[in-house]
Amino acid sequence: MKLTTLKHALVAGAAIAILATGVASAQTAVTATLHADQPGAVIQPEVYGQFAEHLGRGIYEGVWVGEDSKIPNTKGYRNDVVAALKAIKVPLVRWPGGCFADDYHWREGVGPRDKRPTKVNVSWGGVEETNAFGTNEFMEFAELIGAKTYVAGNVGTGSPQEMAEWVEYMVSPTKSTIANLRRANGREQPWKLDYFGVGNENWGCGGQMTAAHYTDLYRNFAEFIRVPQGTKTQKIAGGANSDDYSWTETMMAGAAKNMDQISVHYYTIPSGRWSIKGSATKFDEQVWADTMVQALRMDEMITKHSAIMDKYDPQKRVGLAVDEWGIWHDVEPGTNPGFLYQQNTMRDAVAAAATLNIFHKHADRVRLTAIAQMVNVLQAMILTDKDRMVLTPTYWVYDLYKPFQGATSLPLEVDGPAYVMGKDSVPSVSASAGRDTAGVVHVALVNLNPNTPATVKIKLAGVAGKSAKGRVLTASTMSAHNTFDAPNVVKPAAFNDAQIKGATLTVTLPAKAVVVLDLT
Ligand code: AHR
Repeated sequence: MKLTTLKHALVAGAAIAILATGVASAQTAVTATLHADQPGAVIQPEVYGQFAEHLGRGIYEGVWVGEDSKIPNTKGYRNDVVAALKAIKVPLVRWPGGCFADDYHWREGVGPRDKRPTKVNVSWGGVEETNAFGTNEFMEFAELIGAKTYVAGNVGTGSPQEMAEWVEYMVSPTKSTIANLRRANGREQPWKLDYFGVGNENWGCGGQMTAAHYTDLYRNFAEFIRVPQGTKTQKIAGGANSDDYSWTETMMAGAAKNMDQISVHYYTIPSGRWSIKGSATKFDEQVWADTMVQALRMDEMITKHSAIMDKYDPQKRVGLAVDEWGIWHDVEPGTNPGFLYQQNTMRDAVAAAATLNIFHKHADRVRLTAIAQMVNVLQAMILTDKDRMVLTPTYWVYDLYKPFQGATSLPLEVDGPAYVMGKDSVPSVSASAGRDTAGVVHVALVNLNPNTPATVKIKLAGVAGKSAKGRVLTASTMSAHNTFDAPNVVKPAAFNDAQIKGATLTVTLPAKAVVVLDLT
């Protein structure tokens, strides 16, 4: 037996507590220290960004139903979805892809809708793309929900000129022909273009390029992203696939000074195999544990990409944008395989919360992320079925974690037994903390163990708060999820199992639970 395995076994044994009733009950005992007196970097609100691609029912039906739809809408945007997104304060939306971006020609998506060409969405299901949702619709949508804008440009089948003109269309205050085209299409003032991505996955669907080739193309295309003086659009370079560290090395060596951020994409595939990823709702405990192992790999990937970035950018000027992440399951039976429509359970919620804790820890480098995707696609916040909408467990995690947007991250070291299942071993409890701009400290605790509650004792250093209150997201089964007929199966509830005594916060976490506390 390896020493670490032996240690886990011993600690797991020590975690069996006999309750006063005489009934043996497993309880994981975890200790932690919160160093609120050693503040780290600010958790940029954009860490809570969303990805919305022209894919399946992500845009059409999910966000856009058109003004003539029977589904209640404002200027074509469905009211229920807009309200739900506003409620979680979505700080940023990335659009129009994804793979779709490197086939997208912006001029086809502006002007009178009945004159826009119908194309084939070659990336996703070969369905007709009417171009009804284009630049004006995206920018208006972002304004409607109060989100920053992240537009991904076309390197794969586009040109620097097309990209330059798209940017001009969006941001130019002049009376140039292109800026006047925007006016003719109903928008007088330039929009704020917060982020512009130079292509997407150019190692794959974005052109099958080598890192060296893309590095040169990136420098070329990025040079022509010109914005008016006094304004800033951050340039995001297309980054690595998961743990392809050599891509980051090549890009940083050749183009660090030409970029504001570099992206990385990492999807959690529960089975570890793209061919059979596994069902979103039908899985056993081994698959639960496999999912957690795969999700937590995010920490290692950020650490290793950041270390490479440190070599070329020790000042940490360049951000690492995790602009596609989340769990990728097999599609729901009977749905179009090209639409990537999947359900979302308590498992997705626990993995998402643990991943957000990882982002908090790396707030000095990770300043933007975009979970894939916002509505009806992959690990979605929201699912829709005609005029009905359901909020997923992952949505509720984003709701619980709202106080972390713009908070200063605080080191929170956790020590305790691992959750061991078969060959898998992960920490039982994942945690993070932050202090918001009003001075309130927030603590997030996630119990990755689906069976065993955990008692977490946190030593507090530099915390003024005397009471701990918050909300919990948990469920009776690992696969609990919300459906159109039963939309409230997984929903946050008030949480009162936390007390501060002296300088110790004690929390009893239910199994498979996400808790966020305010220390006031
Ligand atoms: O999010 C779905 C797809 O996953 C995106 O279009 C692509 O960038 C990635 O491979």
